[in-house]
Amino acid sequence: MANALKIEDLHKSFSTGFIPKKKEILKGISLAVEEGEIFGYLGPNGAGKTTTIKCVLSLIFPDRGTVEIFGRPHLSPKAREKVGFLPENPYFYDYLSAREFLSFYADLFLLNKAEKEARIASLLKLVGLEKAAGLHLRKFSRGMLQRVGLAQALINDPSLVILDEPLGGLDPIGRKEIRDIIVRFKQEGKTIFLSSHILQDIEMICDRVAIIVGGRIINQGTLHDLISEKVLFTEVTVSGLAPAELAGLGESLSVHGGKVLLKVYDEDKVGRVLELVRDKKAKIESLIPRTETLEDIFVDMVRRT
Ligand SMILES: Nc1ncnc2c1ncn2[C@@H]1O[C@H](COP(=O)(O)OP(=O)(O)O)[C@@H](O)[C@H]1O
Ligand SMILES: [Mg+2]
Repeated sequence: MANALKIEDLHKSFSTGFIPKKKEILKGISLAVEEGEIFGYLGPNGAGKTTTIKCVLSLIFPDRGTVEIFGRPHLSPKAREKVGFLPENPYFYDYLSAREFLSFYADLFLLNKAEKEARIASLLKLVGLEKAAGLHLRKFSRGMLQRVGLAQALINDPSLVILDEPLGGLDPIGRKEIRDIIVRFKQEGKTIFLSSHILQDIEMICDRVAIIVGGRIINQGTLHDLISEKVLFTEVTVSGLAPAELAGLGESLSVHGGKVLLKVYDEDKVGRVLELVRDKKAKIESLIPRTETLEDIFVDMVRRT
């Protein structure tokens, strides 16, 4: 089976300045997105995420490299008609209602009236905007606008949906709503390629990720591949014991309300803390094994490059 999206050795430079100087932005990007997955394109601002997406959508042309969409060259009409797109900072017409906005995009794709109405109704439902469908967009919150944008990206019933920073500028509730919608897209059988510089969002919904830093992919794989399940340390909160009694068992991080938070690096020592608590009739308030997070890896990688 062909990949939903396959990028090979993509290079792109821009010439800037009064005396034009070439600056290489993409330095050989290769990645492959499997059909039906949510793929996260993760990297700090300025890494080259939007530039990559623009190449995929043929809004700009790479200096070198190839892009295939469901096994077809990305410039072919058959490939392009399978793609839906939500740009990074979409523009919304203030005085259109959500329904009118979607109707405008549906017309661009020459849907007939019945098709169009059915599509718009199902998309409004999918993004949870049925009730607000008649309201002018200028009255929409940022989160609601983003939901209209997501519906727009699906108007042509694409198989591959490309979302550039879909969670940007949203509050935590807004982010959760958008994440839920993206997961719904996946359940509808779509492949989703989304970029983000926010790790937690990617971590929560993506099946696989590629990490881009400075125009290069520095790692790519399932979250399971990238994050080791190994316990790095255990955080134990104890009450009824003095920090001195726990000396030597771990780093005592803070003491308040008679509680000691202990960072224990050694499995055996966790056992000894538990024994001590039992012997002294003290109490375990919490015990949390900490594994590596995508954030740890990301920070580490960005530091190394
Ligand atoms: N049209 C352009 N002309 C010159 N430089 C550009 C252009 N587009 C992007 N860049 C530069 O390319 C780098 C990567 O930008 P971008 O792909 O937007 O990063 P990201 O989306 O990861 O934040 C940035 O340094 C940006 O300034
Ligand atoms: Mg960007």
